[in-house]
Amino acid sequence: MINTNRTALITGASSGIGTVYAKTLAKEGWGLIVVGRRNERLTKLKQEIQLHHKVNIQILVADLSVNEDLEHLLSVIDHSPGIELLINNAGFGSSGDYFKSKYSIQQQMLDVHITACTRIVHHAVPKMIKRGKGAIINVASLSAFFPAPNSYFYCSTKAFMVTFSECMHIDLKSHNIKVQALCPGFTHTEFHSRQGIVHSGNYLQLKLLWKSPQQVVNKSLKALRKSKVICIPGLLNRIIYLFSKVIPNSIYYKLAAHNSDMFLHSKK
Ligand SMILES: NC(=O)c1ccc[n+]([C@@H]2O[C@H](COP(=O)([O-])OP(=O)(O)OC[C@H]3O[C@@H](n4cnc5c(N)ncnc54)[C@H](OP(=O)(O)O)[C@@H]3O)[C@@H](O)[C@H]2O)c1
Repeated sequence: MINTNRTALITGASSGIGTVYAKTLAKEGWGLIVVGRRNERLTKLKQEIQLHHKVNIQILVADLSVNEDLEHLLSVIDHSPGIELLINNAGFGSSGDYFKSKYSIQQQMLDVHITACTRIVHHAVPKMIKRGKGAIINVASLSAFFPAPNSYFYCSTKAFMVTFSECMHIDLKSHNIKVQALCPGFTHTEFHSRQGIVHSGNYLQLKLLWKSPQQVVNKSLKALRKSKVICIPGLLNRIIYLFSKVIPNSIYYKLAAHNSDMFLHSKK
């Protein structure tokens, strides 16, 4: 059982951005509850962290698209009154023609990005309100602002996460609870390779557009300290975001139809 007063719960901690959140927070002395499906990855992460830092780490193996696993996670939250930081990071993308893909994959995305995220928040936040402090980071995506072909569910679930976070921010500010929607652009993790996608582009494009998970996490934690609600790591990504606010929809749709895979190539 975690007994520290400062505990962070991180979903999707077994790789990428979630692993980096775990390592970075452990360095700052946070106790951790790390969640993911791959037990061996989580165990390795725990061993690696505890080699350098004296922090409590609880591993929770859970598939967040499976209701029983989610219920188990909620019961862990019930018994861990000290969760001060909640990071809803677990997620995945899917590429290809929506109408030819299996609906079960899209359902899984709804389950992980929306049902799990909102139910975990619903369980954890009342305890934060009681404690009079807390923070939530919902890892959305820059895609939330860019409807794209073949990303129907990814773009819309991430847009949901942004709006959900903004609504909560308005309500929870008076309870001393910070809320952030982290909206990374391209980040070097397993996210794309899991979909059979490799990145391409010239040196400048790759350097400017792609960030390391450490850069993303540093930006997120810095923005959280400043209570920024929407956090977009990377100057170019922030310019692209501003562009989404001013470009007329009709022009955007044409551009999106022609440039959706500008920096990504399917291996297949
Ligand atoms: N990389 C990018 O370019 C990028 C850009 C914008 C936003 N994001 C977002 O960043 C978040 C983290 O992704 P990442 O880039 O770090 O990719 P990643 O390395 O593939 O990590 C994804 C994490 O989510 C977990 N996960 C996926 N499905 C799950 C499920 N059903 N149940 C429990 N855990 C599950 C995975 O753990 P297990 O496989 O062990 O379950 C893994 O720990 C995602 O929400 C993603 O949408 C990524």
